[in-house]
Amino acid sequence: MNHKIAPLYDALCIYERKQTVSLHVPGHKDGQAFDQQASRHFREILKIDATEVNGLDDLHHPTEAIAEAQRLAADAFGAEQTYFLVGGSTAGNLAAALTVCQPGDRILVQRNAHKSVFNGLLLAGAHPIFIAPEVEPETDVATGIEPSHLRKALQQYPDVKAVWITNPNYYGMGINVTKLVDVCHQAGIPLLVDEAHGAHLGQVANVPCSALEAGADLVVQSTHKMLTAMTMASMLHVQGPLIPRERLAAILAMVQSSSPSYPLMASLDVARRYLIMQGREQLANTVVMLEKQREQLAERLQCLSIWTDKGTTYSRDPLKWVLTSRHSPVTGYQLLAWLEDMGCVAEMADTKNVVLVFAIHNSEDQVKRTVQAIQALDAKLQQLPVVEKQKNDGSILLTEPGQLIEPAISLQEAFHQKKKQVPLAEAIGKYSAEMVIPYPPGIPLLAPGEKITETHITAIQQIKAAGGYFQGASDEGMEKMFILVNP
Ligand SMILES: Cc1ncc(COP(=O)(O)O)c(C=O)c1O
Repeated sequence: MNHKIAPLYDALCIYERKQTVSLHVPGHKDGQAFDQQASRHFREILKIDATEVNGLDDLHHPTEAIAEAQRLAADAFGAEQTYFLVGGSTAGNLAAALTVCQPGDRILVQRNAHKSVFNGLLLAGAHPIFIAPEVEPETDVATGIEPSHLRKALQQYPDVKAVWITNPNYYGMGINVTKLVDVCHQAGIPLLVDEAHGAHLGQVANVPCSALEAGADLVVQSTHKMLTAMTMASMLHVQGPLIPRERLAAILAMVQSSSPSYPLMASLDVARRYLIMQGREQLANTVVMLEKQREQLAERLQCLSIWTDKGTTYSRDPLKWVLTSRHSPVTGYQLLAWLEDMGCVAEMADTKNVVLVFAIHNSEDQVKRTVQAIQALDAKLQQLPVVEKQKNDGSILLTEPGQLIEPAISLQEAFHQKKKQVPLAEAIGKYSAEMVIPYPPGIPLLAPGEKITETHITAIQQIKAAGGYFQGASDEGMEKMFILVNP
C-alpha cells in the first residue's frame, strides 16, 4: 500500500483550497468568526475543521477518503479492519463492550481495567466475572493474567462471551498475549485487548509485539498517547471472524459524535503516515538511545531504582521508565513533585512509583536533562533516613492472582438501584454504589455492586494520605461514599 499519501488530510487540503462559500456548519465558517486573541492558535486548524461536505466522506458511512485512510491504518497496524475513534480509547472500549455483550451476558474481564471498560460493561448490562491479575513484586503494580488462570476461569464459566484484558499496563509492563489468544480461540470466543498504552508496539523489532500480532480479535489503541495523533484521536482494530463488524460499526455510530472532528481524524491519518515514513526508524533509534541512557543511569542510582524486566516473565516498553524509591518512605507522588521542581514533568505516579513517558522521537538532550534530574533526585533521597519499604496498597489488587470475582449484581443494576451516602467505616461489608477511582491510573478500586472490604477502606485511606485523589468521587475528600440500600 502507498503509505506516502494521507487521503483524509489531502481531501481537507483540497477543501481548504477551494475556498467555497460555507453555507453549512460549523458556525465559525472556516475560522472567519472566532475569538481574536485565541485565533492565533486556532486559525490554521479551523481552516480544516470541516463537516461532511462533498469529498470529505462520513466517518459513520465511510466510502472515500476516510475509508481509504482507515484501510491504510489497518495495513500499518496489522489489522483486517480499522475504525477511527474521535472519543479516545474510551469510545472504543464502550463500543467493544456493547458489541460483544447483550444484557445479562457474562464476560471475563481482567480486574485492573480502565474505568472506560467498567463503563462499557455498565452500559451493556453485562455481568462481568473479574479475574485478578499478577502483581509485579518490585513495584507492586498490577500486570496481566496468566494463561493457566484464564484456562481455569473458562472451565468454571464456559458461557462467557469474550475475554477482555488490558495490555500493556500504564507502566509499560506486558504479558504474552499469544498464549491468551490460544486459550480463547480454543474456547471459540474472542480476546479483546485494551492496548491504549501500546499503539507503538510491534512497529519495530526493539519494542514488544502488539496484540494484533499476537492474534487478538479486537484491539483498542490510544494513538494519541504513544504515537503522534492529537489528543483523543484513537483507533479500534479488528481481525478474524469472531467480532460482528456491522454491529460494531452501528454501535460506534451510537457512542461517538455524529459530527466527528476532521482535524482529529486527519491527525490519525497523518500519524500513520509519519509512523511509516519516518517514525519507525526514529522509534528504533530512540529506543537504542534510551536503553543506553537507562542502563548507565541504573548503575549510578543508589536510592532510586528503574524497573527492569530482567528475571521476570514480563515484557517492558522501553519508552517508559518506572522509578521507585528503594528504601525511603517516599511516595511516587513526592517523586513526581520533586522531578517537576527540577523541570521534568512526569506522566503519573502512584503511592510508590512514578512513570516517565518518552516518545517516538525524544531528543537526546531532553533525555540527558531527565537523567540529570533523576540523579539529583537520587542524591536528595540519600539525605533521607532509611526506612523499610512498605507494601503498595494503592493497587487495585486486593485478591490473589487468578482469583475470580463475580459481583452479586451487574454494574448496571447497581447503578440504577437506590443508594445512600455513609462514612467510610460504615461502608465495610456493604455493596458499593459508586466507582471509586484513584486517578491516575484510572483503574476503579471499587465498582458499583462490589462488596466493600476493610482492605478497600485501608487502601482508600493510604492513597489519600500519600497525596492521591479520587476522580469523580461523590465526596471529594473521600470521607463518605455511596452504598446500595437494598443490594
Ligand atoms: C488502560 C487505559 N485504557 C483506556 C484509556 C482511555 O483512553 P483515552 O484517554 O484515549 O480515552 C486509558 C486512559 O488513560 C487507559 O489508561
